[in-house]
Amino acid sequence: MRSATTAARAAAAVSAERLQALFHSISEVGAYGRAADGRHGCERLAFSEEAHIAHQLFAEAARETGLTVRRDRIGNTFARLGPADRETAPVLTGSHLDTVAAGGCFDGAAGVVCSLEAVRAVSLAFRESGAALPRPLEVVAWANEEGARFPPAMMGSAVYAGSLPIEAALSATDSEGISVRDALAARAPGEGTQPLLPPASYLELHIEQGVELEAAGVPVAVVDGVQAQLAGDWRMIGREAHAGATPMERRRDALLGAAALITEVSGIAHAHPPGVATVGKSVAFPGSRNTVPGLVEATIDLRHPEERAVRTMAADFIRAGEACAAQCGLSFEFTERWRSPRVTFSPHLVDLCSRAADAAGIPALRLFSAAGHDAVNLAPITPAAMLFVPSTGGVSHHPEEFTEMNALVQGARVLSATLALLLG
Ligand code: GLV
Ligand code: MN
Ligand code: MN
Repeated sequence: MRSATTAARAAAAVSAERLQALFHSISEVGAYGRAADGRHGCERLAFSEEAHIAHQLFAEAARETGLTVRRDRIGNTFARLGPADRETAPVLTGSHLDTVAAGGCFDGAAGVVCSLEAVRAVSLAFRESGAALPRPLEVVAWANEEGARFPPAMMGSAVYAGSLPIEAALSATDSEGISVRDALAARAPGEGTQPLLPPASYLELHIEQGVELEAAGVPVAVVDGVQAQLAGDWRMIGREAHAGATPMERRRDALLGAAALITEVSGIAHAHPPGVATVGKSVAFPGSRNTVPGLVEATIDLRHPEERAVRTMAADFIRAGEACAAQCGLSFEFTERWRSPRVTFSPHLVDLCSRAADAAGIPALRLFSAAGHDAVNLAPITPAAMLFVPSTGGVSHHPEEFTEMNALVQGARVLSATLALLLG
């Protein structure tokens, strides 16, 4: 009974002004493409100067809120309310601050900002009720969730959870050959502390990046799982030739083979509903108007709620790549970059989120996530769950990605109430 009252108090203590102020200051970092109404996109690729500044802004805001900040070796930033001991596991909540190339302002940052405000609100509610926090609360800004510059995606949380060795993460390189180690050292030399105790639970608020909440007119969703994913790189290898002097029958045009394969990709997804398949990047070399392309380097992203279907889609893709290459006298290479399982979140925590929404007086749907999130890496090591807030028009990974500030506040209130219930 006391916990439902504290949860309602924690929800009410969320400050829209504080949340908005921090969200706007982080949104200015990497801002681009400002429209007449002031809205804009954000580009903060992992381990860039912009991502570093965003982590610093978060750290400053957390210190001002009375939290103790530390950064680990892969560049995750943690802000803790309560003692940094090895006896009591914290409740962890957060999201990421990196974006894709030409991304929006809400993917990731919304969750970090709402988490900090929710933690502040919970501590106020406990103080008002005269109770001490029974365990530390920790807010995290994960490094490199997107994997847009350095594979794999969800890198910072994977290192934290122990599923990716730190040395492998530090050795990952971007398309220019710069390693994570060098990119980190250039911005924050000498920083990095060992992780403390693993968390007692993990909660992540995120924008939905879909249309279901908006269609239902509901401000929050409790997320019960995430679909499986496989990401790879592929190459079509032919031979450069003169665009005027090489007859069609003597060409080994890598772009022609790549185009044939890309055309097959949507068919592979349609053959496995509700699977989705994307070639997000393809570059033809040498990139000269009057040279037949000798090489194409490209990516593939395959997702489906069932892992088995993702594996079948990957096998279909490789078979199609080999067939397209053979038709055009090319060779085809495929390298798997990462794979992420289908995740089912903790039923207990999912239920707690729903009860928290009730305690806060905020309606909440139940949804399954089509996008990947750091919570996927936390789920094997601790009870984890997520909350979604609406994305206007379902737009994401685009400068027009948008969530109403009031929806962020409602999400932060449910998060705050959930943290309060978790603390009991
Ligand atoms: C993260 O944005 C993803 O690719 O799902
Ligand atoms: Mn995200
Ligand atoms: Mn994203």
